[in-house]
Amino acid sequence: MSIQSVGIVGAGQMGNGIAHVFALSGYDVLLNDISEDALNRALSLIDKNMERQVQREKITAEYKAASLARIRTTTKLAELGPSDLIIEAATEREMVKQAIFEDLLPHLKPETILTSNTSSISITRLASRTDRPEKFMGFHFMNPVPVMQLVELIRGIATDEPTYKALHQVVEKLGKTAASAEDFPAFIVNRILIPMINEAVYTLYEGVGNVQSIDMALKLGANHPMGPLELADFIGLDTCLAIMNVLYDGLADTKYRPCPLLTKYVEAGWLGRKTQRGFYDYR
Ligand code: CAA
Repeated sequence: MSIQSVGIVGAGQMGNGIAHVFALSGYDVLLNDISEDALNRALSLIDKNMERQVQREKITAEYKAASLARIRTTTKLAELGPSDLIIEAATEREMVKQAIFEDLLPHLKPETILTSNTSSISITRLASRTDRPEKFMGFHFMNPVPVMQLVELIRGIATDEPTYKALHQVVEKLGKTAASAEDFPAFIVNRILIPMINEAVYTLYEGVGNVQSIDMALKLGANHPMGPLELADFIGLDTCLAIMNVLYDGLADTKYRPCPLLTKYVEAGWLGRKTQRGFYDYR
């Protein structure tokens, strides 16, 4: 099946980045969120991020204008009905994701492929609640989406080969690289990355180093572009904690125990950059 149009549910950090890269690659994008405000914020962020690419001579101003014109927005989920591909990038709560697919299903064409950008929730479980588990996959982009090269493609237990191949082609058309993962808690990237961040929080909690020394150690000692605590603030401490809990519950191994300091920061509402305060103070 040839994919021309994509419906994206959720216009937050991930959803707007995904809309950005699909529009740049020539797809017709319909971006959905529950409020006009959220959609307007997303459009202005996409405009700003595409402008960076114009300034760095990655794209021309004309190409930017044509790409922006390919993005439409709607607050009505039903309008995503004619899309060839759905990407759910809503909040990382399973009930919310399930409700979105339930509301969408009656409006979709039978051949439409369903995907979720979930960073850790079971694809098999999400798929099993739809009428087409064989056409359901995990489609996991990395943040910031316009910059990061990787997309994880996660097969649910029932995902069929044509669906996998169709999404693999989409990743190639986006100019990105796919890593295939089986459907186990947190897949590949977050199975490795988030326990590393959790260990960095333990390193802080146990007084082995302070915030600056821990981040500097990994930046200069292991050539990471960001230190683990800076990266945790960038991802969101609530998201890091949620992924640790998925690992802890799903793999039943104490090595995935979330650090109590991470839990404490989340309880304080210190969620990182998005709340202006995390391991660093952005106020
Ligand atoms: N849109 C478009 N372009 C962007 C951008 C955006 N949102 N953000 C940055 N850029 C571009 C810049 O324009 C710049 O382009 P050039 O190379 O052409 O100059 C380039 O990206 C680098 O940006 P900066 O110079 O502003 O900043 P930097 O060199 O400090 O890099 C960074 C910023 C790319 C974010 C880098 O620090 C980095 O790679 N950090 C690690 C990010 C990471 O690990 N992401 C994965 C998070 S885990 C995840 O996403 C999975 C999950 O489920 C939790």
